[in-house]
Order: sequence, then C-alpha cells, then structure tokens
Amino acid sequence: MKKNYAFQLLFLFLLMSFSLSGISQTTIVVHADKPGAKIDKSIYGHFAEHLGHCIYGGIYVGENSEIPNTKGFRSDVVAALKDLSVPLVRWPGGCFADTYHWRDGIGPKSERPSIINVHWGGVTENNSFGTHEFLDFCELIGADAYVNLNVGSGTVREAAEWVEYVTSSNESPMTNLRKKNGREKPWNVKYWAVGNETWGCGGNMRPEYYADQYRQYASFLRAPGIYKIASGANVEDYKWTEVMMREAARMMNGLSLHYYTVPNNWQNKGSATDFNEEVWFTTLQKTLKMDTLVTKHSAIMDKYDPRKRVGLLVDEWGSWYDVEPGTNPGFLFQQNSLRDAIVAGINLNIFNNHADRVRMSNIAQMINVLQSVILTKDKEMVLTPTYYVFKLYKVHQEALMLPVEIKCNQYTLGTQSLDAVNCSASVKDGVVSITLCNLDPNKSQQVSFDLSGMKLSKVSGKIVTAGKINAYNDFGKKEEVTEADFKNVKIASGKVDATIPSKSVVLIQLQ
Ligand code: AHR
Repeated sequence: MKKNYAFQLLFLFLLMSFSLSGISQTTIVVHADKPGAKIDKSIYGHFAEHLGHCIYGGIYVGENSEIPNTKGFRSDVVAALKDLSVPLVRWPGGCFADTYHWRDGIGPKSERPSIINVHWGGVTENNSFGTHEFLDFCELIGADAYVNLNVGSGTVREAAEWVEYVTSSNESPMTNLRKKNGREKPWNVKYWAVGNETWGCGGNMRPEYYADQYRQYASFLRAPGIYKIASGANVEDYKWTEVMMREAARMMNGLSLHYYTVPNNWQNKGSATDFNEEVWFTTLQKTLKMDTLVTKHSAIMDKYDPRKRVGLLVDEWGSWYDVEPGTNPGFLFQQNSLRDAIVAGINLNIFNNHADRVRMSNIAQMINVLQSVILTKDKEMVLTPTYYVFKLYKVHQEALMLPVEIKCNQYTLGTQSLDAVNCSASVKDGVVSITLCNLDPNKSQQVSFDLSGMKLSKVSGKIVTAGKINAYNDFGKKEEVTEADFKNVKIASGKVDATIPSKSVVLIQLQ
C-alpha cells in the first residue's frame, strides 16, 4: 500500500516537473519496415500566377533591368529556387488562366497585345512573360512545367493548338510558328489542366456541365504521355468529386482540390503578422482540416478508381490573410511568419502521409502573393519562413513514405485542443527522414522514436523556429526565422530521443 502511494507520488512529481518545465512526452512509431507509396516530387510544387508581383518583379524583370538577371529572370530568385529543388511550377493561373489567350504571349514582345488583368487589380498585362518565358524559366530552375488551359473564355481549338505548339516535334503550322519564335525543339511539358476553379472564377459551372466540357477538351489534347488534369472541388464540395469521378475519371490522370487556410473569414481574414495565440490556434486548427478533406475526397475517388490511377492534386493551398496595409488589395501581397512555417510543415506532412493518392501540390503563390517562399522589393529579396520549411522537407521528394503512429500530448487553449505534434516520415537511400511540427507555442515536446527494429548509428537534424509566434523576415533586416542545425536528438542503446522546441518545424535524419 505504502509502496503504491510512493509510486503515485513519484508519478505525480514527474508529471508536475514536465509541465512546470514546459516539456511534454510524445512517442512516435515509424514503420521503417513497411515503406508505402513513393512521395511524388511534385508534392513540393509551386504556383506562379499573373497576380500582383508574382511574375513581374518577382520572377521576371526583363533583360534591360538593373536588377541582375539571366534573360530577364532575376538571378537571386533563380538561385534561391534552385537551392529549394523546386520540382514543378503551375502557370499562368488560377483565375487568370481562364482569361488568358496564349497567342497574346508569343512572338516579338513589342508586337504582343496588352490585356486587362480583370481578376487581379484591373492592371494592364503586357504579355511580355508568355509561353517561351515560362518554359525557359522552368528549364533554368530545373523544374517541370504545369500549364493550366483556358476553358472559361477559351476554345477547344485554342487549347489543342497550345499543346501542339509546345509539345509537337512534327511539321505543322503551330510548330513552325514556335520555330519562327526561336524555339526549334519542343518542350517536354507533361502536366496540362483543363480550366481552373470551373465551379467559380473559371466559369461558374455545375459539375455535370463541366464533366462534359472536360470530356470534350480532353478528347482533343493529343500528345504522347501527357497528364490531363480536371478542375476539382472547392474545399468540401464532395458532390463535385463524385460527379467528376463518375462521369470523367477514365479520361483524366489527375483531379484537383483547392483549400486555403483562412484564420477568420473571407471578409476579414486577419493580419499576416499581427495576431495573438488564439488566432495562431485557429490557423493551425483550420490547416489540419486538410487531412479530413484529402481523406474524404480520396474515399470518393477510391469508389471509382480503387487502384488509385487518378491522382488527387492539391494544386492550390496555403494561408490567405488580409493584404499588407498600404498595398494594392488586388495584388494579395502578404507577409509570412513563423506561423506560416508551421502551416507549411503540417500541410506537407499531410500530403506525404497520403502519398498513395496525393501526387502533386502547389503552394500559392511562389513569390510576392499569398503564402510565398520569396518576397522581393526592387533589388531586395527575402526568403520567408515557408521557404526554409520547403528546404528542410525537400529530402522527402521521391522517397518512400513510411507510416507513422503518434501518441502525443494535446496543445490546449481554453476549451479546445489539438494534437501537439504533427509528423511524417520517408526513406531514401537507407536514410530515414522524419519531419515534425510542434504546434504548441509554449511547450517543448519530449519525443521517443521507435524505428521498428532499424539499426541506427547516425543522426542529424535541422530546425526552423524563432522566439515569437509572429516572427518574420523583412527587407533590410537580419533574418528572424531561418534554418539551423538541430542538436537536441540522440541515439542511445538503439533508441532515439529528441526534444522538439515549442513552435518549431524539425527534420531528423537517421541511418
Ligand atoms: O490564389 C489566388 C486565387 O485563388 C486563384 O487565382 C484562384 O484559383 C483561387 O480562387
């Protein structure tokens, strides 16, 4: 009786010292012996839209710019993107895609007509960045290209001719035009989407109508080996996925899904940098919803495609806040804080864990818009916290996903709780990579890993964190959020233990 009492006291003491020291206990089983699907590198894809300063100023400044460039592409941005091993870029939109007529963006720049960018600020688009510029840019950074065709205001013929212009090596009016414009060899562009958000800015269609449109377009996109993508659901519009799969699955390779993390509501989304812990909590809670969405849309796809031939492509995701004060509301320019690092880490973990169905994702947008990895102002460039998370996670590209089981504490605020730790794991070339997010802004997490019998001799790690939940990197200032070596991990008697600091994203690599 006395002994039991002593044990209870000891247990209480340990529990209290953990909470007083702000450390919580987590166990993670990584099934290193049961590798799953390959994590398609395209899960680490980006999205470049003609919106605000994503293209002009962000990617492209023109050959005559004082900003150092290669053929008009910013040299600093190109170098930073190469470091990130960007696998894929989606272009030209977004909503912009369904207003874009590709012939406006080819040929001598001085002869290219201008258009009004009706969705994004009503500014004049001079079309100096068109098909050749986009595909040259992809070649420069070593990324695959993903082109979004215009269904909303385009035609089947226009779409079919674009595919031919880009991909064909045969003699034809389209390929001759391409050659006349300076490109002899075709580009190898695999990914083509038929419209964007066809339920909204892409035409306000019903799924039944769009399914027929999709079938018609898909019939005329004829090039060997291309991957045809249908415009998919908005958030939890499960009916959309059901109808598309039922009516058109056999003609598609991928079906998209769009979901943004909006902390408050669409009228008042909240500030990118001025927020409290309550908003931090809600933002992460809403980000975790991605797991439910992917699970439920996948279950519908399983009904029609049990062999998982068709990919679920989350080709727009990220945080969406109010624009920065004093900036053009149509340009959607927002800052990016440590909170966004966690948002990115959670989403990418979710996609890794669903690698059997999720084959691509594209964060919106690569530069100067929503959850961007890079911000630019004239000659200056800032790498955001999200950039550093993508840098940590690039080890997952083309690795085999490893199933993980987590038992962790809750991060509680008021009456609500979330799992404090979010995680995914993969293996490539004998190295196991585990990425973890500690959602709790106040408590470290003491984590014990069980690697299912894997013999371990080496461990290393990286971390992205900062002192404040809303720390961010700004022009002309020392970086507040960056990556650093992570030392709080050790192997002892075949066991791995780590202490994951509060509000951090961590990569642990074991072999
Ligand atoms: O990313 C901004 C916009 O959000 C995209 O253009 C559109 O597809 C979505 O509604």
